[in-house]
Order: sequence, then structure tokens, then C-alpha cells
Amino acid sequence: MLVITSHGEEETRTIGRILGKGVPPGMVIALKGDLGAGKTVLAQGIAQGAGVEGTVNSPSYVLMNIYHGQLELYHFDFYRLEDEDDLFELGLDEYFYGEGVTLVEWADKFPSFLPEDRLEIEIRKDHGEQEFVRHLFFRTMGKLNHMFLEEIKKYASAGD
Ligand SMILES: Nc1ncnc2c1ncn2[C@@H]1O[C@H](COP(=O)(O)OP(=O)(O)OP(=O)(O)O)[C@@H](O)[C@H]1O
Ligand SMILES: [Mg+2]
Repeated sequence: MLVITSHGEEETRTIGRILGKGVPPGMVIALKGDLGAGKTVLAQGIAQGAGVEGTVNSPSYVLMNIYHGQLELYHFDFYRLEDEDDLFELGLDEYFYGEGVTLVEWADKFPSFLPEDRLEIEIRKDHGEQEFVRHLFFRTMGKLNHMFLEEIKKYASAGD
């Protein structure tokens, strides 16, 4: 597991950009963390890194947005999903096992729907008084080629 500490919104976006530059087609990234943790901020950085132009917002109301960059980016948010029937309607497998990169906010709400091979990023607020500090925990699940994490590892060891 890799842990990176972010000291503000812009740093989280930068971390996302580094990740988005190297993210391979077909990757699924599950984003976990409380309300306001920074999942959408990180997703915005990943989208920028993947060459998406324009604004990336949380897809809370529409459940999914599709963006086009160097590759297609599918951005889901499970927060408002009530039950598994809603998930079936989304036809997730088409995205999870497709050529694009899938980002899922609140992925842990329906863990059994996620593909085995995925990157999980959990964002935790700092327990202290440090309002702008976030701890990002990276976990690779299943069989992944870890190469795309090299740049983020360099960033992690350069910081702190
Ligand atoms: N280090 C940091 N990284 C990211 N966001 C930060 C950081 N410090 C403060 N913030 C603030 O925290 C908020 C994160 O909002 P964001 O919408 O990304 O959260 P979220 O995890 O997507 O929440 P939700 O579950 O509601 O979708 C923003 O207001 C941002 O300015
Ligand atoms: Mg969000």
C-alpha cells in the first residue's frame, strides 16, 4: 500500500494528474472517502491528466458522465444509488470491462459489483486540526500491471 499526504485541493489535483497521465486503458479506479474528502477533486485531476478538456463535475444526479481525452473516461457516483436494481440498469460491465478508464465515487457502497482487478484510492481527512490535509491510500486489487504507479511512487517519495 502506498500513502500520499496532500496539503490542499491543488495538490490532490496534481496527484490526480500524475495518475491520469499514466493510467492504462481498461483501468477501474474505486474512490472511497467521506463527503467532502476530495474524491471529485482527485477525479478532476485524473481527467486532466488523461487529456480531458473542460469541467469535470461530480455526477451525483446523473450517476455517470462520459469524457473524451486520450481515452474515454467514465465517471460514476454511487452515492445516490438506492439498491442493486439501479446498478443493473446502468449496465456497468460495459464500462468496467471496456477500453476506457472508469472512476467510481462511493465505490464501497456496492463492493460486490466492482471488478476484481482495480485500483482503490481511499481519501481520509486528517484527524488533527489540519483542515486542508488529506491522506490518500492506494491499494491495488487483483492482477494489475503496476507500471502506471511508478510516477506516483516517485511523487510520494519526493514529498513528505
Ligand atoms: N487536500 C485536499 N484535497 C482535496 N480537497 C480538499 C483538500 N483540502 C480541502 N479540500 C476541500 O474539500 C472539498 C472536496 O470536495 P469533493 O467534492 O472533491 O469531495 P468528494 O469526496 O467528491 O465529496 P462527495 O462525497 O460529496 O462527492 C473541496 O471543497 C476542497 O476544496
Ligand atoms: Mg464527489
